[in-house]
Amino acid sequence: MSERSPFRPALERALHHALSYLGNLEDGPVAATATLETLRSRLAKPLNRAPIPAERVIDELVADTEGGIVASAGGRFFGWVIGGAVPASLGADWLTSAWDQNAASFACAPAEAVVEEVCGAWLKELLGLPSHASFALTSGCQTAHVTALAAARHALLEQRGWQVERDGLFGAPRIRILSSDQFHGSVTQAVRLLGMGTACVQALPSNRMGQLEMATLDEALRAEPDTPTIVLLQAGDLNIGAYDSFSELIPLAHRHGAWVHVDGAFGLWANASERYQSLLTGVEHADSWATDGHKWLNVPYDSGFAFVAHADAHRAAMSHYASYVSYNEAVREQKDWTPVWSRRGRGFATYAALREFGREGVAALVERCCEAAHALAVGIAAQPGVELVWAPRINQGLVRFIDPRPDATESDHDAWTDAVTEAVLRTGEALFSNTTWRGKRCMRISVCNWQTDASAVARTIAAVTEVLRTMRAARIGQ
Ligand SMILES: Cc1ncc(COP(=O)(O)O)c(C=O)c1O
Repeated sequence: MSERSPFRPALERALHHALSYLGNLEDGPVAATATLETLRSRLAKPLNRAPIPAERVIDELVADTEGGIVASAGGRFFGWVIGGAVPASLGADWLTSAWDQNAASFACAPAEAVVEEVCGAWLKELLGLPSHASFALTSGCQTAHVTALAAARHALLEQRGWQVERDGLFGAPRIRILSSDQFHGSVTQAVRLLGMGTACVQALPSNRMGQLEMATLDEALRAEPDTPTIVLLQAGDLNIGAYDSFSELIPLAHRHGAWVHVDGAFGLWANASERYQSLLTGVEHADSWATDGHKWLNVPYDSGFAFVAHADAHRAAMSHYASYVSYNEAVREQKDWTPVWSRRGRGFATYAALREFGREGVAALVERCCEAAHALAVGIAAQPGVELVWAPRINQGLVRFIDPRPDATESDHDAWTDAVTEAVLRTGEALFSNTTWRGKRCMRISVCNWQTDASAVARTIAAVTEVLRTMRAARIGQ
């Protein structure tokens, strides 16, 4: 870059601030420390009339957001299901912005188009999906659901002589989705966007392990033999990482003519590790799959992937033609496979993450996170007043904090669990989020970050132990 490049000052400042932020992740507070009011008072300036030099904009952005950046990129963040970003992927993401390609088509982003072709092939290989499946790089798992379910909608209605892309859904046969009651809210959002309505999702009871049982699905399938049906299966649910039995349920659904879609937002990645592959036996026979790059693969936001076993249905649901767009039959035009037209070249960051890890690196990451989740759950549950509600089978676990007062009720334990989780967050040492599972309030343990190591686990257990010791002493002394 020329010394006089107008980009240099801002990019140099950005590099400086980014390295300082990333260098602080290991020791700094995990939770945000600035209040809503502080952030508003700093950031909500009157829009300036005159231009401001770019490097000053960057410096002020960093100063004004101070304390408002959650350290979810670091190894002591265990909330929701959130990954960090491995270095090559972060670097590639920066370049993606610098290159600023419109990844809609080969003509405006030729290298990105080829990178996406390669990512699609690598991902199918790594996740154990059929090589003939079509794919799309989306903004996340929810958009991957939209993509895959649009393909399902097309296929099911086409079989009944209805062209949904042309005629819409008014007057079309009603589609239903059968799922266990453990499905994720992103599916609800997807069906709303697809015009199918949330009422189309029929939540069937799951068993003790959070799984949909064969007899339950069979009964539901038989109840409406003529209704076009999507069976939604779970590869790792949000709370306990439950996996449905693909080898039993997929053939059953197919015998009834249903389309099977798998939500594997993070859980599909277990297929990269020989240790966990058995959880996914038979998953490759589904019709579509949705997963994320920004969770377990540790690609920066936003990154998700849809795969569809029936490329024709996928393309029919997504492709569009315009006379001003150049077409090249020799390449894969991304806009024909995703719900959006213009978009960022998100293939580069995925490509870089996959190369930095390699197959062995992804397997090791999955195994390390599962071990860390287990160590955290067991280590926390070893403290007085902790119930181990779910010992992680993969990277998700649940603990519940028991109110130490002798007459405490279940709802006291619920409130106490929230209070302890909040107190842990306030220490800045670690961050967990909460859930209600089987009617009980629990603290969720979710490990997805490539930086979570034994020392992060030990430090977190020590922090939770200290919080519990202090809070229990105060509570009993009340
Ligand atoms: C099981 C499951 N499915 C779907 C999603 C939605 O993913 P995204 O936020 O990338 O759309 C999540 C997010 O946590 C999830 O855990």
